[in-house]
Amino acid sequence: MKVTVVGAGAVGASCAEYIAIKNFASEVVLLDIKEGFAEGKAMDLMQTASLNGFDTKITGSTNDYTKTAGSDVVVITSGIPRKPGMTREELIGINAGIVKEVSSNLIAQSPDAIIIVVSNPMDTMTYLVHKSTGLPKNRIIGMGGALDSARFKYRLAEALEAPISDVDGMVIGGHSDVGMVPLTTLATRNSVPVTQFLSEERLNQVKEDTKVGGATLTKLLGTSAWYAPGAAVSGLVQAIACDQKKIYPCSTFLEGEYGLSDICIGVPVVLGANGIEKVVEIELSDAEKEALKTSAEGVSKTNGLLEL
Ligand code: 2OP
Repeated sequence: MKVTVVGAGAVGASCAEYIAIKNFASEVVLLDIKEGFAEGKAMDLMQTASLNGFDTKITGSTNDYTKTAGSDVVVITSGIPRKPGMTREELIGINAGIVKEVSSNLIAQSPDAIIIVVSNPMDTMTYLVHKSTGLPKNRIIGMGGALDSARFKYRLAEALEAPISDVDGMVIGGHSDVGMVPLTTLATRNSVPVTQFLSEERLNQVKEDTKVGGATLTKLLGTSAWYAPGAAVSGLVQAIACDQKKIYPCSTFLEGEYGLSDICIGVPVVLGANGIEKVVEIELSDAEKEALKTSAEGVSKTNGLLEL
């Protein structure tokens, strides 16, 4: 399994690190436009191999896409991250051009690759890759829901005063401060609905803290987060590499599922060797259906800003 990660900034380097540490890929190529940057990050990471016990070979490249040839999975983290006070949607102007060019360069070298899109605004960038590459929809995956769900579980564990391993939950909808739909009614602590432990008011707080999870970190860090995004990507890559058939909420092109069409937005999918192998249609409450619809309207509005 060869994986390419484009963008050797904090998110890209964390993706490479977590993929390597999990030791399921033979090779990770880090690529960046900044001279020597990806090579430096790759060398630094390789010098952790004997300490962290992995055999994945990490190499770096300054914008030489031939080094990425034959990748099974490619991850696009390129573009600018948001600064405190910015929304993800404000990044569209710069990031759309970058993501379009990067995806075309990647596909020229790895025509069979599965693409994971991380760049923001993520759902719109996933839609752009869908429209500009014309690849089958199972091979284009937007990473957002996996990250947002991890943040949801963190907030649930905090509210429940429980270990995170006891908690399960999922966030669907758009990867934006207003568009996320944390599914509080389906969240559980060791199979017991969390609604049996937490008041409606506390659950609403969990929901709101989850939705602004990225913004809270951006304010604290001065730029957007990287550990949890990197770990979320590594989970998706592993599900594909190891044909795990795991359910993750991912941004995928919908054709009628959940009553939505011509949009990429986060819904539960089965991830395996073929990428998105199935969209899983779960029963939502009326409020959740309405929230997903509103979220989709927001994503469509941002998609409307694309020059396709
Ligand atoms: C985040 O939410 C990078 O969009 C990403 O942290």
